[in-house]
Amino acid sequence: MYRSRVAGTGSYLPEKVLLNSDLEKLVDTNDQWIRERTGIERRHIAADHQITSDLALIACQKALQAAGIAAEQVELLIVATVTGDQVMPSTACVLQNKLGLKNIPAFDLSAACSGFIYSLSVADQFIKTGQYKTILIVGAEIIHRFVNYEDRETCILFGDGAGAFVLTRAEENDANYVMSTHMRAEGALGELFVLPAGGSKIPFSQDVLENKTQFVKMKGREIFKNAVRTMSSTCHEALEKNQIAPEKVDWLVPHQANMRIMEAVADHFGFPKEKVISVVHEMGNTSAATIPVAFDMAVQDGRIQRGQTILLTAFGAGLTAGSALLRY
Ligand code: UT7
Repeated sequence: MYRSRVAGTGSYLPEKVLLNSDLEKLVDTNDQWIRERTGIERRHIAADHQITSDLALIACQKALQAAGIAAEQVELLIVATVTGDQVMPSTACVLQNKLGLKNIPAFDLSAACSGFIYSLSVADQFIKTGQYKTILIVGAEIIHRFVNYEDRETCILFGDGAGAFVLTRAEENDANYVMSTHMRAEGALGELFVLPAGGSKIPFSQDVLENKTQFVKMKGREIFKNAVRTMSSTCHEALEKNQIAPEKVDWLVPHQANMRIMEAVADHFGFPKEKVISVVHEMGNTSAATIPVAFDMAVQDGRIQRGQTILLTAFGAGLTAGSALLRY
């Protein structure tokens, strides 16, 4: 069995910013409520001409550059998204073309906010078995186009962005590698967070527009509780699998949905707040992009260093959840 390692990371947040004060003009909310309940101060919103693969492309180019790897070396491309360019073909195929890649497999992975952890897990398996040596994974979302700016419970939360990792086969004596990945799904709780229309269940029609079923709908309080429960539990799984005590973890990079969710997960393990990478104030919830974006930002600002032990954990619609423990 081989091992995979994170060779490079990259991220991109669109230039346009939506502040809490902007949302005050759209719905009955206020800056103080949003900050206190979520920690969010701003979100980045894709320009009208940008589509999800455009955001993904920039993140991927940066990750390839950071890894010192030419795009042509990539053998598999995975895009984690629930807000792809279109239903068909996949955003991964569009992105493959934009990256100038030919004759490599490319597919989308749908696990909502856990999509990046799922992608990391899939990529890790392909490297472990020896099938591929270099894999590009990217979480990319333009979620604002699926948000109802009349629904104060959701519109304050979400933003757009993309984050990518280049995974390569680790040398035999490399101390830095992906130690384990863990995935879960609880379909029985799927109704807590849905985007109803646009699939075979509710195809597009005039009714969709009238009932606004083209937008996300969420039972926030229930999602909150399940997020804390499942992220804590999948973190336990990763630590136990590797027989690593929480104090040996240098950084926790949780899904960036709500500062209070992240703090509750950290409290569960006695992680001090300073060991939690949180950039939710800067971007809100960017779904599958939150973990690679937060990770990359922490690499850029020097918090995450080579050789450190990092615990990633995500939670999302499905309900899905997952974790990964790696030495960077
Ligand atoms: O990737 C996973 C995606 N989703 C999430 O992670 C979301 C998880 N859930 C959350 O982050 C939180 O549940 C929310 C931020 C959505 C809501 O925070 P909360 O502390 O759970 O508030 P709540 O739903 O218990 O509502 C408290 C009050 C309610 O008013 P009443 O009934 O007490 O009068 C809400 O109507 O706050 C009201 N409220 C708001 N007030 C101002 C709900 N949304 C807003 C708002 N501005 N935007």
